[in-house]
Parts: sequence; C-alpha cells; structure tokens
Amino acid sequence: MKDLIKRLTEAFGPSGSEGPVREVITKEVEPYVDEIRVDALGNLICLKKGSGGGKKVILDAHMDEIGVIVTHIDEKGFLRFASVGGVYPVVTLGQRVYFENGTFGVIGSEKLDDIKDLKLDKLFIDIGAANREEASQKVKVGDMGAFFQPAVDLGNRVVAKAMDDRIGCVVVIEALKRLKQTQHDIYAVFATQEEVGLRGARVAAYGIEPDVGIAFDVTSTGDTPKARTMDVSLGKGAAIKVKDSSLVCHPGLRDYLVKLAEAKGIPYQMEVLEWGGTDSGAIQLTRAGVPAAVISIPSRYIHSPSEMVDIGDVEACVKLCVAACESPLDF
Ligand code: CO
Ligand code: ZN
Repeated sequence: MKDLIKRLTEAFGPSGSEGPVREVITKEVEPYVDEIRVDALGNLICLKKGSGGGKKVILDAHMDEIGVIVTHIDEKGFLRFASVGGVYPVVTLGQRVYFENGTFGVIGSEKLDDIKDLKLDKLFIDIGAANREEASQKVKVGDMGAFFQPAVDLGNRVVAKAMDDRIGCVVVIEALKRLKQTQHDIYAVFATQEEVGLRGARVAAYGIEPDVGIAFDVTSTGDTPKARTMDVSLGKGAAIKVKDSSLVCHPGLRDYLVKLAEAKGIPYQMEVLEWGGTDSGAIQLTRAGVPAAVISIPSRYIHSPSEMVDIGDVEACVKLCVAACESPLDF
C-alpha cells in the first residue's frame, strides 16, 4: 500500500488537470472491475457488478489536489498566480511547484513589513527565467502547478503532498482489490474538481443515481500542540463523519457504519469537522436526495505540501469500506 501511496501522491493533479492521476488509477483498478468509463468532467467511474438484489453504491474519492494557476508573467519572467482550491499563503513560502510539462519553480515573496500582509498577491513563482520571453517558452497563463514534495515513509506514518485526497483513492482502490463478493453494484468514483467546489462528484452522482453514497476523504485532527480542539487523533482509526460544512451525514447510514466497525473490531472515531466540505455534500443533494456518509482518513497539516496520515488508520478505512460493501446496507 505504501508504494501506491507514493505513486499516487507524487502524481500531478490540480483540479481540472487530473489526467496523470486518472492514468495511475485506471491501470491499478482495471483487473478488479467490470466496466470503466470517463465522463464529461473527467471523473473516472469504475463499476464492480454485484451478484444481484443489492443497491447501487457510490464509493467516492477525489483525484484532484490544491495547486496554483498562472495569471500573469512579468517582463522579468516572474509568474503571478492565484490559488486552485484552498491554498494558505503562509505554507507556500519557499515551496517548490511544478507544472505538468516538468517545469519547476520556487515561490518567492515581495518585501513585507508585517507577516500579516502575506497574501497570495504578494507572492510570485520564479522558474529561473531571465525575462518574459524565456518564461513564456516554459509556462503559459492558465497553466496549473502543483506543490513538489516527495512522499516520505516515517514507519507507521507517511507524509506527502496531495494526501488530500489520494489517500482516499488508495482506500477505495485497496477495497476494490480485497472485495471478493458483494450483492451491490459498486461504483468507484474517482472524482475531479472537489477542491474547487465538489464539482465532479455532483455530475457523477447524477448520472449513476445511487441508492447510497460514501465518500472517502481526509479530515483534520486535534492532536498536535495547541491545535484547535477536535476529537480526532492520528492512529485511533477510521473517522466516521457526523457533520462538516457541506453535509450532515445520513444518521441511519452513519450509525450502521458504527455498528459494522464495532462488529468487525475495526478501530473508529467519531468526527465533527467544523469547516470544510466533502464530495458527499454534493452526492447527498443529487436528484431527490441520496443517503450519504463519509469515512475520513485522519490527517495532520491538511492543505500543506506535507500532509501526514497513519497507516493503521488507512487500514481501518479499507476494512470498513470492504465491510460496508459486503453488508446488506439495510440501515
Ligand atoms: Co482538500
Ligand atoms: Zn479532500
């Protein structure tokens, strides 16, 4: 699983530019599913057919990551940029970014008298070009960049960029590999454009018309020094979401997942996220409404280029996903 985490987190995929991620996932899941298609928004939709009499179930994880988009190239060859998704200016300083064509750059800042003035419009990307002409040969306005950080194995824990939400993709892929038999039609949706507004999942769910939707995404933790109070810790198991800013999870489905975890001895914790959203927020509001839940992978330093997860938690999420697919889902 660690090898897959490395390959997926190091793949390039800001919102709308998920191609390289989609390629990795397609190769990975092909032997384990019956049908694969890519829809108009780039969602990768993989169907594993059930034995019959079951429900249509979406397992969703988003492929995209936060990043930057070039808005202007000045005469000296410096790039101005805007964010793709929620990028905190303070974590970008000194970071390296790369573009899909392999161009690298480093983020620099204008002179600031007060760190509070640090906003994205005070920052620029230096790709080592001497002037606009040279820069324009490598990068164009509208090109997207991703943060550059190799994945690092810390033993029980792994740090990488784009754990949000490649680790969710890993959980769904691993579950597809382990799932032997199910009565349900399982639609694994590897969604696009979550970070800019849950867009891919919205249309994927509309097309599939599922009976149940479960998203797999990272959630924050409250276990670091003087962290914002939150009842989720790294290493304490799969986080079963109750609420975030995008949805209140279906209580019946949520409690069903809790009972499954208890019955199977899978470590879990309850999650209330006071900000942020997930694809289940879009899935729940599809058509006449879909019972939706989220199984979250606890992660530290979310939306930084160094997001940390615990392998035991990832394992718990995979087990809970498989258990849900094997169960009747008669909540
Ligand atoms: Co995110
Ligand atoms: Zn996410």
